[in-house]
Amino acid sequence: MRKIDYGIDAPHVVRNLFIMGILGFLLPLFHTVKIGPVNLDMTGFIGMGISCGFMAVWMLLYSLYGKLRHRDRILNMVNWKGNEMVLDIGTGRGLLVIGAAKRLTTGKSIGIDIWNAEDLTNNKIENTINNIVFEGVKDRVEIKNENAISMSFADNTFDVVISNLCLHNIYNKEDRKKACGEISRILKKGGTAIISDFRHMKEYKRNFIQSGLKAEIVPASYFTTFPPLAILKVTNE
Ligand SMILES: C[S@@+](CC[C@H](N)C(=O)[O-])C[C@H]1O[C@@H](n2cnc3c(N)ncnc32)[C@H](O)[C@@H]1O
Repeated sequence: MRKIDYGIDAPHVVRNLFIMGILGFLLPLFHTVKIGPVNLDMTGFIGMGISCGFMAVWMLLYSLYGKLRHRDRILNMVNWKGNEMVLDIGTGRGLLVIGAAKRLTTGKSIGIDIWNAEDLTNNKIENTINNIVFEGVKDRVEIKNENAISMSFADNTFDVVISNLCLHNIYNKEDRKKACGEISRILKKGGTAIISDFRHMKEYKRNFIQSGLKAEIVPASYFTTFPPLAILKVTNE
């Protein structure tokens, strides 16, 4: 492996936006198209071209550069001692599990995933392990094949739980509630969970509060993330 690669998020969405963007610039070249008695003004498609093209480029820039800044923003919200037990849920190619491991001395950083191909390019456990070896944190990291909605860890195992762009991929509301319940169960007293996502933030917050935890939403960073990612800070006081 030649260099670190954390993958492109939602590659099908990025591809479709690029296609719509290109069509939006090409269709206006026809000016008007006659369909039966109707004269269709094609110049209106330019708006679609600009907005889809902008979103495609912004999503790509997030995956290539913004996610490294966003990782630091998430990890800076934890008061690290170095001896923490850390869990990264939906680790993908290891963005957060590796970042957390670099802040540990005697602690351990565990990443779990189910390796959904449509959520991230080349989303395979081998690629995550390559990144871990490349970053020199193999001794502090463990990767497991586990689903967020039903984890094998004992109650009160983790000081820190982190997750970026994972929970919205659980399409069923009840299953998202189970995942939040699992996070509440495995988080130690005094522990912190930082959940970053672009949808359902208020729903996650309600779930954690119902489990007796404290939760506050930190607004999205519009410069470094697209779609804009908000952060939920959950504490088990
Ligand atoms: C968009 S990727 C983000 C990966 C990584 N957190 C990052 O920021 O680069 C979402 C990840 O969540 C994983 N995922 C989706 N549903 C999951 C579930 N129920 N349990 C565990 N992982 C899941 C996907 O396989 C994918 O690796």
